[in-house]
Parts: sequence; structure tokens; C-alpha cells
Amino acid sequence: MSSEKRDNVFSRFKKLSIDSIPKTILVAITLCLFCSMLVSLAAVKLKSIQQENQLRDKQKNILQVAGLYSEGINIEETFASIEPKIVDIESGLFTDKFDPKVFNDLKAASDPLLSVALEDDPASIGRRSNYATIYLLKNKDGTIDKLILPIYGYGLWSTLYGFVALEEDTNQIFGLQFYKHAETPGLGAEVDNPKWKGQWKGKKLRDEDEKLMIQVAKTPGPNEYHIDAIAGATLTSNGVNSLVRFWVGEAGFKKFLTNFKNGKI
Ligand SMILES: Cc1cc2nc3c(=O)[nH]c(=O)nc-3n(C[C@H](O)[C@H](O)[C@H](O)COP(=O)(O)O)c2cc1C
Repeated sequence: MSSEKRDNVFSRFKKLSIDSIPKTILVAITLCLFCSMLVSLAAVKLKSIQQENQLRDKQKNILQVAGLYSEGINIEETFASIEPKIVDIESGLFTDKFDPKVFNDLKAASDPLLSVALEDDPASIGRRSNYATIYLLKNKDGTIDKLILPIYGYGLWSTLYGFVALEEDTNQIFGLQFYKHAETPGLGAEVDNPKWKGQWKGKKLRDEDEKLMIQVAKTPGPNEYHIDAIAGATLTSNGVNSLVRFWVGEAGFKKFLTNFKNGKI
């Protein structure tokens, strides 16, 4: 377009009334561009803060499941008593292949080089990472007080992500806690109810013959292994039952727990 023509178009546009269609469209487009710039800027600026908050929230949940959390504590400082370690699930041994501070178990679970597809998949997770970040709560003398294992799997509407804390005997449960899920408030989301979660404390995973016994069920079972299913939320309860049994079972942390118990690590 020649500059004469362009000036012509511009001066004709200027002469249009303020509520003409072209000027309305121009204002709308300008406003949209401005707003989208603001949103993008906010998203970029806030990303690191969001990541930091997510990390703090995860640490808070680990402290909660380990019984170390109370309102107002300094999460970062308290978390210093917990050591993250990477477990090679196949060998059941610790590995230094990855830095536990940055290793992302969930990302690894979707990487074909770092995970396996599950044929038997009771937790409905599709693939399982070959490596998992676990957390060791240590006593002042350096001995281990509790083992905190990540667990996740499908409930009714969503994947529930959480932790199970075990006493150093690797069999007695200290606590269970989910930090993310989208089950229905008042039904499946009752997994977060302190009264329901409280049932897990002191329950055992296995009997003397190493048979996996822990179960979440509607029908009563042997008290030391039994967790009552949530009333009106049997499907979420079944999901929790399957995912806990999967992660502490043969395809999960069983080898690691056995190695730990036998002093091999
Ligand atoms: C809107 C709506 C949301 C529900 N959310 C859940 C849920 O989060 N978890 C769950 O197990 N059941 C949920 N249910 C109920 C299930 O459909 C099913 O009835 C229930 O799990 C059976 O449990 P019960 O045998 O204890 O009654 C929901 C039902 C409705 C209508």
C-alpha cells in the first residue's frame, strides 16, 4: 500500500464516530491484547511462587504424616530432619542415580526409559516409575524413626496422591495422608477427615507369614489390619485399599521394605 493510500485510510478511520463498528472492534481487540499480556505476565511472574508453594505444601503433608506438623511451625526448618532418598523399586535398594531434591517421580512414571507399563494395575496408574522418592525421618542419633513412602492411585473421580508413614519395623503404620485428589466433599473427600485417617495409626501391613493383610473394607476384618470404608463412599475406599496394597506390595516397595528390615540398607 502506498503511503498516500495509507494516510487516506488512516484519516478516514479517524473521522469515523467513536461508536462506529471499526472503532469498537479496534477497542475490543486492543483491550483483549492488553488483558492477555497482563495474564501472561502474571502467569510467568507467579510460576516460581506457585512452585515454591507446591513444594511447601508437599513438605507440610510429609510433616503431617510423620506427626511433626503443628500450626505456625517453620516448615522448611522442620523438614530439615527429614532426608529424601531415591529407591530403585526393582532392586529395593537406594540409588544415587538421581538427585532426590529435584527428581520428579510422577514425571518419571510417564517416561518409558524410567518406568514400566503395568499389566496388573490395581491402582489404575498405567505405568509405574522404576524409581521413587521416599523420606526418612531420623532420630537425633541418626537412626531411622519412620519411613515415609509416596502412594497414589485412582479413587472414584480422581487420582489420590499421598504418603504412608511406617514405623522403622516397616510393618506398623504411623499415618496416612493424601495431599491431592478431587473426590466429592462429604463423600470420597472424607479420606481427609482426621477421624478416618486416625484409624490407620498402629495398623499392620502384614502378618507373621509376610502375607499382606491391610485392608480398607465395609465388612469387618481382623482389627489389627482393618480400616473401615467411608460410609457412602465405598468406591473411593476401594480405590484407597487398592492403591495402598499396590504400593506396599510386590510391585511396589515390598523389596525395599524387606531389605530395610533385614538391615541390607
Ligand atoms: C454426586 C455424587 C458424588 C459422589 N461422589 C463419590 C465419591 O467421591 N466417592 C465415592 O466412593 N462415592 C461417591 N458417590 C457415591 C457412589 O456413586 C456410590 O454410590 C458409593 O460409592 C457407594 O458407597 P456405599 O456402598 O457406601 O453407599 C457419589 C455419588 C454422587 C451422586
